[in-house]
Amino acid sequence: MRFAHRHLLGIEHLSQSDITAILDLAEKYVDLNRQSTKHSDVLSGLTQINMFFENSTRTQASFELAGKRLGADVMNMAMQASSIKKGETLIDTAMTLNAMHPDLLVVRHPHSGAVDLLAQKVNCAVLNAGDGKHEHPTQALLDALTIRRAKGRLHRLNIAICGDVAHSRVARSNLILLGKMENRIRLIGPPTLVPSTFAEFGAEIYDDMNEGLQDVDVVMMLRLQKERMDGGFIPSEREYYHRYGLDAAKLALAKPDAIVMHPGPMNRGVEIDGTLADDINRSVIQEQVEMGVAVRMAAMELLARNLREAA
Ligand code: NCD
Repeated sequence: MRFAHRHLLGIEHLSQSDITAILDLAEKYVDLNRQSTKHSDVLSGLTQINMFFENSTRTQASFELAGKRLGADVMNMAMQASSIKKGETLIDTAMTLNAMHPDLLVVRHPHSGAVDLLAQKVNCAVLNAGDGKHEHPTQALLDALTIRRAKGRLHRLNIAICGDVAHSRVARSNLILLGKMENRIRLIGPPTLVPSTFAEFGAEIYDDMNEGLQDVDVVMMLRLQKERMDGGFIPSEREYYHRYGLDAAKLALAKPDAIVMHPGPMNRGVEIDGTLADDINRSVIQEQVEMGVAVRMAAMELLARNLREAA
């Protein structure tokens, strides 16, 4: 299994076979994570630093657990209390950490491109845990693994990505990944949140859920990213839910075995009905979280192999 990359910065840089390599290795870790003893030593001796400049619950916990289960020494930097608050630049912080010889740096940052920039300055492998509206590669990979396990394949599926596409790095990374794997993608949402420029990804654009959801295999809902909006994107949350919120009636238009996904955190009653989100017969939201740990273990193992070969 060859994975010829020093960093994992975006899906953009990956080939079909890179994606398949990560997912196949992740399957092994899904099994390991279901055992009572969940330990491997593939990262033993290596240091992993998690730097999250934006709030995160599941992604940070998932990367931390993934590193610990693989035997790395894992440190979480409390960025809220760091020198960034004293005016230090991102690059100075990165250079300071670099001098401590980490092997894997996991970074989330509110600015698109910040993680790529940082990767150019350090000697270790960098994993992008989400940069602005740009990419969130491990999220797209965990979504892909969830879809592949539920549908038995990751190609020739009709996949709807719904809601706040404009502000979503999850949507962007998924569009790139699912496109590379030759699926048909529909983007559904109001024109303010699904600009027509997204057609360049090869997706079909709908502003009516009732049309867009017809016969899809996968319904991926997105959080309304209010923190990235400066007003005027939606009339009201009530109206938004009525037109674009996923409930059982709208889901009935999709294929009878269509699965429901959401990257979390969810706004129940805004983009998705709470009961539907919890319906284990339709919703794979908890599986997405489970697959997240396995996919991150796989990605870190592949990058660590390259580090050891280069050493
Ligand atoms: C997403 C993110 O941070 O981009 N969440 C996540 O990583 N699970 C999506 C979101 O914040 O809505």
